[in-house]
Amino acid sequence: MKGTILSGFRPTGRAHIGHLVGALENWVRLQDDYTCYFEIADWHSLTTGYESTGEIQNNILEMAADWLSAGLDPKKSAIFIQSEVKSHAELHLLFSMITPVSWLERNPTLKEQIRDLNISENMNYGLLGYPVLQAADILCYKATAVPVGEDQLPHLELAREIARRFNLLYGNVFPEPKSLITQFPRVPGVDGKKMSKSMNNSIYIADTEEEIHRKVKTCITDTAKVHKNDPGHPDVCNVFQYHRIFNKNETQSIRNQCETGSLGCVECKKKGAAMINEYLKDIRDKRNELMKNADFIYDTLKDGSERAAAVANATLKEANKAMNLIK
Ligand code: TRP
Repeated sequence: MKGTILSGFRPTGRAHIGHLVGALENWVRLQDDYTCYFEIADWHSLTTGYESTGEIQNNILEMAADWLSAGLDPKKSAIFIQSEVKSHAELHLLFSMITPVSWLERNPTLKEQIRDLNISENMNYGLLGYPVLQAADILCYKATAVPVGEDQLPHLELAREIARRFNLLYGNVFPEPKSLITQFPRVPGVDGKKMSKSMNNSIYIADTEEEIHRKVKTCITDTAKVHKNDPGHPDVCNVFQYHRIFNKNETQSIRNQCETGSLGCVECKKKGAAMINEYLKDIRDKRNELMKNADFIYDTLKDGSERAAAVANATLKEANKAMNLIK
Protein backbone atom coordinates (compact mmCIF):
# COMPACT_ATOMS: atom_id res chain seq x y z
CA MET A 1 0.00 0.00 0.00
CA LYS A 2 1.29 3.42 -0.98
CA GLY A 3 -0.55 5.41 1.65
CA THR A 4 -3.96 6.83 2.42
CA ILE A 5 -6.25 8.77 0.15
CA LEU A 6 -9.22 10.95 0.90
CA SER A 7 -11.28 12.75 -1.68
CA GLY A 8 -14.84 13.84 -2.16
CA PHE A 9 -17.44 16.04 -3.76
CA ARG A 10 -20.24 18.21 -2.52
CA PRO A 11 -23.64 16.60 -3.20
CA THR A 12 -24.87 19.27 -5.56
CA GLY A 13 -26.41 16.96 -8.16
CA ARG A 14 -25.77 14.04 -10.47
CA ALA A 15 -22.28 13.28 -11.77
CA HIS A 16 -21.65 14.09 -15.41
CA ILE A 17 -19.32 12.33 -17.83
CA GLY A 18 -16.60 14.89 -17.05
CA HIS A 19 -16.65 13.75 -13.41
CA LEU A 20 -16.54 10.18 -14.65
CA VAL A 21 -13.43 10.36 -16.80
CA GLY A 22 -11.84 13.21 -14.83
CA ALA A 23 -12.17 11.91 -11.29
CA LEU A 24 -14.18 8.75 -10.69
CA GLU A 25 -12.23 6.47 -13.02
CA ASN A 26 -9.05 7.64 -11.35
CA TRP A 27 -10.48 6.93 -7.89
CA VAL A 28 -11.45 3.46 -9.04
CA ARG A 29 -7.85 2.74 -10.06
CA LEU A 30 -6.42 4.17 -6.83
CA GLN A 31 -8.50 1.77 -4.73
CA ASP A 32 -6.04 -1.03 -5.41
CA ASP A 33 -2.95 0.84 -4.26
CA TYR A 34 -4.14 3.00 -1.38
CA THR A 35 -6.34 2.84 1.67
CA CYS A 36 -9.20 4.96 0.38
CA TYR A 37 -11.85 7.21 1.89
CA PHE A 38 -14.40 8.88 -0.36
CA GLU A 39 -16.74 11.36 1.23
CA ILE A 40 -19.96 13.03 0.23
CA ALA A 41 -19.27 16.48 1.64
CA ASP A 42 -22.75 17.57 2.65
CA TRP A 43 -21.56 20.13 5.22
CA HIS A 44 -19.43 21.75 2.54
CA SER A 45 -22.47 22.04 0.29
CA LEU A 46 -24.08 24.26 2.94
CA THR A 47 -21.33 26.88 2.70
CA THR A 48 -23.05 28.30 -0.37
CA GLY A 49 -26.31 26.33 -0.47
CA TYR A 50 -27.62 26.92 3.05
CA GLU A 51 -30.80 28.62 1.86
CA SER A 52 -32.10 25.68 -0.12
CA THR A 53 -31.45 22.33 1.50
CA GLY A 54 -34.47 20.50 0.13
CA GLU A 55 -32.48 18.45 -2.38
CA ILE A 56 -29.63 17.31 -0.14
CA GLN A 57 -30.98 13.86 0.75
CA ASN A 58 -31.80 13.06 -2.83
CA ASN A 59 -28.45 14.39 -4.06
CA ILE A 60 -26.61 12.18 -1.57
CA LEU A 61 -28.43 9.12 -2.86
CA GLU A 62 -27.80 10.01 -6.52
CA MET A 63 -24.16 10.75 -5.86
CA ALA A 64 -23.60 7.47 -4.05
CA ALA A 65 -25.32 5.64 -6.95
CA ASP A 66 -23.04 7.39 -9.45
CA TRP A 67 -19.93 6.47 -7.49
CA LEU A 68 -20.87 2.85 -6.96
CA SER A 69 -21.92 2.33 -10.56
CA ALA A 70 -18.67 3.87 -11.79
CA GLY A 71 -16.79 1.20 -9.85
CA LEU A 72 -16.05 2.44 -6.35
CA ASP A 73 -16.05 -0.73 -4.31
CA PRO A 74 -17.32 -0.59 -0.73
CA LYS A 75 -15.23 -3.66 0.06
CA LYS A 76 -12.08 -1.75 -0.79
CA SER A 77 -12.98 1.82 0.14
CA ALA A 78 -14.95 3.57 2.84
CA ILE A 79 -17.65 5.56 1.07
CA PHE A 80 -19.31 7.85 3.56
CA ILE A 81 -21.29 10.95 4.38
CA GLN A 82 -19.31 13.76 6.00
CA SER A 83 -22.00 14.76 8.48
CA GLU A 84 -22.18 11.18 9.77
CA VAL A 85 -18.63 11.51 11.08
CA LYS A 86 -18.88 14.19 13.74
CA SER A 87 -15.14 14.15 14.40
CA HIS A 88 -14.67 16.24 11.24
CA ALA A 89 -16.58 19.04 12.97
CA GLU A 90 -14.55 18.85 16.15
CA LEU A 91 -11.22 18.77 14.33
CA HIS A 92 -12.45 21.71 12.25
CA LEU A 93 -13.09 23.58 15.51
CA LEU A 94 -9.61 22.83 16.84
CA PHE A 95 -8.02 23.86 13.54
CA SER A 96 -10.05 27.08 13.51
CA MET A 97 -8.14 28.17 16.62
CA ILE A 98 -4.76 27.98 14.91
CA THR A 99 -5.67 29.23 11.45
CA PRO A 100 -5.02 32.93 10.82
CA VAL A 101 -7.93 34.66 9.10
CA SER A 102 -5.45 36.23 6.68
CA TRP A 103 -4.67 32.75 5.28
CA LEU A 104 -8.34 32.26 4.52
CA GLU A 105 -8.97 35.68 3.08
CA ARG A 106 -6.23 35.32 0.49
CA ASN A 107 -7.69 32.04 -0.82
CA PRO A 108 -8.20 32.56 -4.58
CA THR A 109 -11.14 30.14 -4.74
CA LEU A 110 -12.93 32.21 -2.11
CA LYS A 111 -12.20 35.43 -3.98
CA GLU A 112 -13.75 33.93 -7.10
CA GLN A 113 -16.84 32.84 -5.18
CA ILE A 114 -17.27 36.25 -3.59
CA ARG A 115 -17.20 37.75 -7.07
CA ASP A 116 -19.44 35.14 -8.71
CA LEU A 117 -22.02 35.00 -5.93
CA ASN A 118 -21.91 38.71 -5.19
CA ILE A 119 -21.57 38.20 -1.46
CA SER A 120 -18.81 40.57 -0.41
CA GLU A 121 -21.08 42.29 2.13
CA ASN A 122 -22.61 39.27 3.70
CA MET A 123 -20.12 36.47 3.59
CA ASN A 124 -20.94 33.68 5.98
CA TYR A 125 -18.44 32.41 8.50
CA GLY A 126 -18.75 28.83 7.19
CA LEU A 127 -17.68 29.79 3.69
CA LEU A 128 -14.58 31.58 4.99
CA GLY A 129 -13.74 28.40 6.88
CA TYR A 130 -14.39 26.07 3.93
CA PRO A 131 -10.72 25.06 3.59
CA VAL A 132 -10.40 24.54 7.35
CA LEU A 133 -13.20 21.99 7.21
CA GLN A 134 -11.59 20.44 4.15
CA ALA A 135 -8.29 20.19 6.06
CA ALA A 136 -10.16 18.42 8.86
CA ASP A 137 -11.69 16.01 6.31
CA ILE A 138 -8.28 15.10 4.99
CA LEU A 139 -6.34 15.05 8.24
CA CYS A 140 -8.92 13.02 10.21
CA TYR A 141 -7.59 10.09 8.17
CA LYS A 142 -3.98 11.28 8.07
CA ALA A 143 -4.37 11.10 4.31
CA THR A 144 -1.08 11.40 2.48
CA ALA A 145 -2.51 11.99 -0.98
CA VAL A 146 -5.60 13.78 -2.23
CA PRO A 147 -6.70 13.29 -5.84
CA VAL A 148 -8.29 16.57 -6.91
CA GLY A 149 -8.69 18.90 -9.86
CA GLU A 150 -6.52 21.97 -10.19
CA ASP A 151 -9.20 24.24 -8.72
CA GLN A 152 -8.66 22.55 -5.34
CA LEU A 153 -4.91 23.16 -5.13
CA PRO A 154 -5.19 26.29 -2.95
CA HIS A 155 -7.30 24.31 -0.47
CA LEU A 156 -4.72 21.57 -0.33
CA GLU A 157 -1.96 24.07 0.25
CA LEU A 158 -3.93 25.39 3.22
CA ALA A 159 -4.39 21.86 4.56
CA ARG A 160 -0.62 21.45 4.49
CA GLU A 161 -0.10 24.79 6.23
CA ILE A 162 -2.60 23.87 8.93
CA ALA A 163 -0.96 20.46 9.45
CA ARG A 164 2.47 22.10 9.69
CA ARG A 165 1.28 24.69 12.17
CA PHE A 166 -0.45 22.11 14.35
CA ASN A 167 2.66 19.91 14.40
CA LEU A 168 4.86 22.87 15.27
CA LEU A 169 2.63 23.96 18.14
CA TYR A 170 1.69 20.60 19.66
CA GLY A 171 4.00 17.91 18.27
CA ASN A 172 3.91 15.72 15.24
CA VAL A 173 0.42 14.36 14.67
CA PHE A 174 -0.39 15.00 11.01
CA PRO A 175 1.32 14.18 7.71
CA GLU A 176 1.36 16.91 5.05
CA PRO A 177 -0.99 15.67 2.35
CA LYS A 178 0.10 15.90 -1.27
CA SER A 179 -2.17 16.51 -4.22
CA LEU A 180 -2.49 13.83 -6.86
CA ILE A 181 -3.21 15.65 -10.07
CA THR A 182 -3.86 13.44 -13.05
CA GLN A 183 -3.84 14.84 -16.53
CA PHE A 184 -6.97 13.84 -18.34
CA PRO A 185 -8.71 15.30 -21.34
CA ARG A 186 -11.27 17.96 -20.56
CA VAL A 187 -14.77 16.87 -21.56
CA PRO A 188 -16.53 19.92 -23.01
CA GLY A 189 -20.21 20.57 -22.43
CA VAL A 190 -22.63 20.34 -25.34
CA ASP A 191 -22.13 24.08 -25.90
CA GLY A 192 -18.34 23.66 -26.03
CA LYS A 193 -17.83 25.41 -22.67
CA LYS A 194 -16.75 23.78 -19.42
CA MET A 195 -19.26 21.09 -18.46
CA SER A 196 -21.12 22.30 -15.41
CA LYS A 197 -24.50 21.73 -13.87
CA SER A 198 -25.28 25.43 -13.62
CA MET A 199 -24.57 25.93 -17.34
CA ASN A 200 -27.18 23.36 -18.34
CA ASN A 201 -24.74 21.79 -20.80
CA SER A 202 -23.94 18.49 -19.12
CA ILE A 203 -24.25 14.88 -20.14
CA TYR A 204 -24.98 12.83 -17.04
CA ILE A 205 -24.02 9.27 -16.22
CA ALA A 206 -27.70 8.73 -15.43
CA ASP A 207 -29.01 10.09 -18.76
CA THR A 208 -30.95 7.68 -20.96
CA GLU A 209 -29.71 6.75 -24.43
CA GLU A 210 -32.33 9.02 -25.97
CA GLU A 211 -31.35 11.94 -23.78
CA ILE A 212 -27.76 11.60 -24.83
CA HIS A 213 -28.67 11.44 -28.51
CA ARG A 214 -30.84 14.50 -28.07
CA LYS A 215 -28.13 16.43 -26.24
CA VAL A 216 -25.34 15.59 -28.66
CA LYS A 217 -27.62 16.61 -31.54
CA THR A 218 -27.73 20.15 -30.13
CA CYS A 219 -23.92 20.48 -30.11
CA ILE A 220 -22.52 23.34 -32.10
CA THR A 221 -19.80 21.82 -34.24
CA ASP A 222 -17.35 23.53 -36.59
CA THR A 223 -19.22 26.63 -37.78
CA ALA A 224 -17.16 26.65 -41.00
CA LYS A 225 -18.62 23.27 -41.96
CA VAL A 226 -22.02 24.32 -43.23
CA HIS A 227 -22.75 21.52 -45.69
CA LYS A 228 -22.24 17.84 -45.16
CA ASN A 229 -19.39 17.68 -47.66
CA ASP A 230 -17.53 20.80 -46.53
CA PRO A 231 -14.13 19.97 -45.06
CA GLY A 232 -14.27 20.25 -41.24
CA HIS A 233 -11.83 21.18 -38.50
CA PRO A 234 -12.09 18.52 -35.81
CA ASP A 235 -9.82 20.33 -33.38
CA VAL A 236 -12.35 23.12 -32.84
CA CYS A 237 -15.33 20.74 -32.57
CA ASN A 238 -16.59 19.43 -29.25
CA VAL A 239 -18.22 16.39 -30.84
CA PHE A 240 -14.77 15.38 -32.07
CA GLN A 241 -13.56 15.75 -28.49
CA TYR A 242 -16.23 13.21 -27.48
CA HIS A 243 -14.92 10.83 -30.14
CA ARG A 244 -11.40 11.29 -28.81
CA ILE A 245 -12.45 10.24 -25.34
CA PHE A 246 -15.24 7.74 -25.91
CA ASN A 247 -14.39 6.36 -29.36
CA LYS A 248 -10.63 5.95 -29.19
CA ASN A 249 -10.36 3.27 -31.87
CA GLU A 250 -12.02 5.36 -34.54
CA THR A 251 -10.64 8.78 -33.65
CA GLN A 252 -8.20 8.91 -36.54
CA SER A 253 -10.70 7.72 -39.10
CA ILE A 254 -13.32 10.21 -37.87
CA ARG A 255 -10.73 12.97 -38.19
CA ASN A 256 -9.89 11.98 -41.75
CA GLN A 257 -13.51 11.67 -42.81
CA CYS A 258 -14.38 15.04 -41.25
CA GLU A 259 -11.40 16.82 -42.79
CA THR A 260 -12.02 15.40 -46.25
CA GLY A 261 -15.73 16.17 -46.13
CA SER A 262 -16.92 12.59 -46.39
CA LEU A 263 -18.56 12.63 -42.95
CA GLY A 264 -21.33 15.11 -42.18
CA CYS A 265 -21.99 16.50 -38.71
CA VAL A 266 -25.36 14.78 -38.37
CA GLU A 267 -23.82 11.34 -38.87
CA CYS A 268 -20.81 12.22 -36.77
CA LYS A 269 -23.05 13.26 -33.87
CA LYS A 270 -25.11 10.09 -34.12
CA LYS A 271 -21.96 8.03 -34.00
CA GLY A 272 -20.55 10.10 -31.12
CA ALA A 273 -23.71 9.75 -29.06
CA ALA A 274 -23.79 6.01 -29.77
CA MET A 275 -20.21 5.67 -28.55
CA ILE A 276 -20.93 7.60 -25.35
CA ASN A 277 -23.90 5.30 -24.80
CA GLU A 278 -21.75 2.26 -25.44
CA TYR A 279 -19.17 3.54 -22.93
CA LEU A 280 -21.86 4.16 -20.31
CA LYS A 281 -23.84 0.99 -20.91
CA ASP A 282 -22.60 -1.15 -18.02
CA ILE A 283 -22.42 1.80 -15.66
CA ARG A 284 -25.98 2.78 -16.51
CA ASP A 285 -27.26 -0.78 -16.08
CA LYS A 286 -25.58 -1.03 -12.71
CA ARG A 287 -26.95 2.34 -11.72
CA ASN A 288 -30.49 1.39 -12.63
CA GLU A 289 -30.15 -1.75 -10.52
CA LEU A 290 -28.76 0.21 -7.59
CA MET A 291 -31.51 2.81 -7.72
CA LYS A 292 -34.07 0.03 -7.39
CA ASN A 293 -32.37 -0.96 -4.17
CA ALA A 294 -31.85 2.25 -2.24
CA ASP A 295 -31.49 0.24 0.98
CA PHE A 296 -28.27 -1.26 -0.31
CA ILE A 297 -26.93 2.24 -0.98
CA TYR A 298 -27.92 3.46 2.49
CA ASP A 299 -26.37 0.37 4.11
CA THR A 300 -23.17 0.97 2.17
CA LEU A 301 -23.02 4.58 3.33
CA LYS A 302 -23.77 3.60 6.90
CA ASP A 303 -21.07 0.97 6.92
CA GLY A 304 -18.60 3.35 5.25
CA SER A 305 -19.43 6.08 7.76
CA GLU A 306 -18.83 3.71 10.67
CA ARG A 307 -15.49 2.59 9.30
CA ALA A 308 -14.48 6.18 8.65
CA ALA A 309 -15.62 7.28 12.11
CA ALA A 310 -13.48 4.66 13.84
CA VAL A 311 -10.35 6.10 12.22
CA ALA A 312 -11.39 9.75 12.52
CA ASN A 313 -12.28 9.38 16.21
CA ALA A 314 -8.87 7.89 16.98
CA THR A 315 -7.10 10.75 15.19
CA LEU A 316 -9.22 13.27 17.03
CA LYS A 317 -8.22 11.72 20.32
CA GLU A 318 -4.59 12.09 19.38
CA ALA A 319 -5.12 15.74 18.47
CA ASN A 320 -6.94 16.41 21.75
CA LYS A 321 -4.13 14.75 23.65
CA ALA A 322 -1.47 16.74 21.83
CA MET A 323 -3.35 19.93 22.78
CA ASN A 324 -3.68 18.81 26.40
CA LEU A 325 -7.47 18.80 26.22
CA ILE A 326 -7.52 15.23 27.45
CA LYS A 327 -4.94 13.30 29.45
N1 TRP B 1 -13.94 21.04 -2.05
C1 TRP B 1 -14.17 19.83 -2.81
C2 TRP B 1 -14.94 20.20 -4.07
O1 TRP B 1 -15.67 21.15 -4.12
C3 TRP B 1 -14.95 18.82 -2.01
C4 TRP B 1 -14.20 18.35 -0.81
C5 TRP B 1 -14.58 18.48 0.49
C6 TRP B 1 -12.95 17.66 -0.82
N2 TRP B 1 -13.66 17.92 1.32
C7 TRP B 1 -12.65 17.43 0.57
C8 TRP B 1 -12.06 17.24 -1.80
C9 TRP B 1 -11.46 16.80 0.95
C10 TRP B 1 -10.90 16.62 -1.42
C11 TRP B 1 -10.58 16.40 -0.05
O2 TRP B 1 -14.85 19.48 -5.05
